[in-house]
Amino acid sequence: MKLYKMMSACLLTCTLLTICMPSSADQFTEADVKRWTNEYMSVMKQGEKLFHGGLKANNTVSCDQCHPNATNIHPETYPKFQKQLGKVAVLGEMINWCIMNPTESEPLELDSNEIIALQAYIHYERRGVALQPGKH
Ligand code: HEC
Repeated sequence: MKLYKMMSACLLTCTLLTICMPSSADQFTEADVKRWTNEYMSVMKQGEKLFHGGLKANNTVSCDQCHPNATNIHPETYPKFQKQLGKVAVLGEMINWCIMNPTESEPLELDSNEIIALQAYIHYERRGVALQPGKH
């Protein structure tokens, strides 16, 4: 009898836990998705401005002079070996290589708002392209 009581108490606890706990930790609403997409688009647009002359540089060179609309940049191939850097690099490191060389400026922190915005823009221009890490 005692065992029976313990088992039913256990069953009740399990049932209550299943009903009361969210079934997964990553549940989100349509409003969440809308807000997150808007945040992304706003950062992407900042990147677009930086790319088209908005980046502080030590000369008058801007990214779009060599990469019109970023469409000749291949973010889907990163990480990959870059001969300029002599190692397998992430996209932000190549952005910094161009900031230091063509635009003759100081490299940015890889987690800076500017690098994140530039990456958001560069990736957006290639949306839908299949990932091909390491490809040349
Ligand atoms: C004077 C021309 C020039 C300018 C201006 C320039 N780049 Fe580049 N960029 C290059 C060259 C050359 C490469 C090397 C191409 C390669 O090795 O595949 C390159 C490569 C890159 C790559 C890697 C491309 C890939 O597909 O692997 C990224 C990312 C990049 N540039 C971003 C930028 C950004 C951001 C700016 C502005 C801050 C910029 N570039 C300005 C000439 C330029």
